[in-house]
Amino acid sequence: MTPDIFDPAKYRADFPVRAETVYGKPLIYFDNAATTQKPLPVIDTISRFYSRENANIHRGVFCLSEKATQAYESARIKVQRFLNARSTREIIFTRGTTEAINIVASAFSKVFLKAGDEILITHLEHHSNIVPWQMAAEASGAVLRVAPINEAGEVILSEFARLLTPKTRIAALAHVSNALGTINPVQEMIRLAHEKNIPVLVDGAQAVSHMKVDLQELDCEFYTFSAHKMFGPTGTGVLYGKEAWLEKMPPVQGGGDMIRSVTFEKTTYNELPYKFEAGTPHIVGVIALGTAVDYLQRVGLERIATYEQELLTYATKALSAIPGLRIIGQAKEKAAVISFVLGAAHAHDIGTILDREGIAIRAGHHCAMPVMDFFKVPATARASFAFYNSKAEVDVLAAALRKVQEIFR
Ligand code: ALA
Repeated sequence: MTPDIFDPAKYRADFPVRAETVYGKPLIYFDNAATTQKPLPVIDTISRFYSRENANIHRGVFCLSEKATQAYESARIKVQRFLNARSTREIIFTRGTTEAINIVASAFSKVFLKAGDEILITHLEHHSNIVPWQMAAEASGAVLRVAPINEAGEVILSEFARLLTPKTRIAALAHVSNALGTINPVQEMIRLAHEKNIPVLVDGAQAVSHMKVDLQELDCEFYTFSAHKMFGPTGTGVLYGKEAWLEKMPPVQGGGDMIRSVTFEKTTYNELPYKFEAGTPHIVGVIALGTAVDYLQRVGLERIATYEQELLTYATKALSAIPGLRIIGQAKEKAAVISFVLGAAHAHDIGTILDREGIAIRAGHHCAMPVMDFFKVPATARASFAFYNSKAEVDVLAAALRKVQEIFR
């Protein structure tokens, strides 16, 4: 048998944008943690739906609407199977991770939080897993607690365990840090919380397209992610919630689709998952998310994870060799993200110089200001990889960073 050598070039033609040039140079796209590029099947799904299949869902009795409803609901089945959720009733379509976390924080605070209760998050969180909880705390009088991190950018597990107190009502944590790439030991963190009967929300935005996620194995109460970070369209995402918890929580938005009956005196709500899907959703976005799931499964998540680790090791070595470059976040378990500072160069200067070389990276605080504060940097430059990136592209990045280093020497 020949060994399975992952060749990113094989997938290059699937992503039309990757044939683009920037300032006359081939585009090298290293901002995958912000959003990934879209493969042809996803683009084709969107184009086909609007060209030939467009209709509203769950409403029409005519053929086109029935087909659209079927396509939308089959995307739900794809997501359920992709994540090994127990039932499609647990898969709620949202605008993205941010909306998904906001729904949980808002609904949860109404029924489960009161003054003096505690919400536990970690110092690694993206703003979208901080601010909704601050809002929930403000509305209920609960208190936000933060599990600290160490110099490597890892949550200190003993501190996380210590902060799970009899007052803790929920713990919310990132599966993978968007700013540093740290992979949290979520299975262990969930186990620690469950020992104390505390439910857990996992923000999976940076995980689902990079590693296999099995929700029954993880056993968390809530899991959230966005389609656009997994080769699907923007404006679409998923909130997974265990049925028993979702049943106990009130809807957050009122409108069409989420009702069973309405009178001026009283409204009764629809069953799961529709209770949390008010209004006409991003129909084609959801259908194309289903296409992205199909695509990802064809490439194979285990192969992606192995290849991206290889790329991360290669890039870490190449970038570490650049004088003055400091990698921020050196966790033992990392996804393919490298955040760094380089001598006296500001992250935005690095980003601008790299752009001239055709290389797209992100520069800034990555919506994780507390992480920047911890490492005492205003911003970092961040290269985040996907399976379609190659070692040759990393070489171009390293060479361009040497130019930055020369300029700012
Ligand atoms: N959360 C996205 C990022 O990390 C936008 O870039």
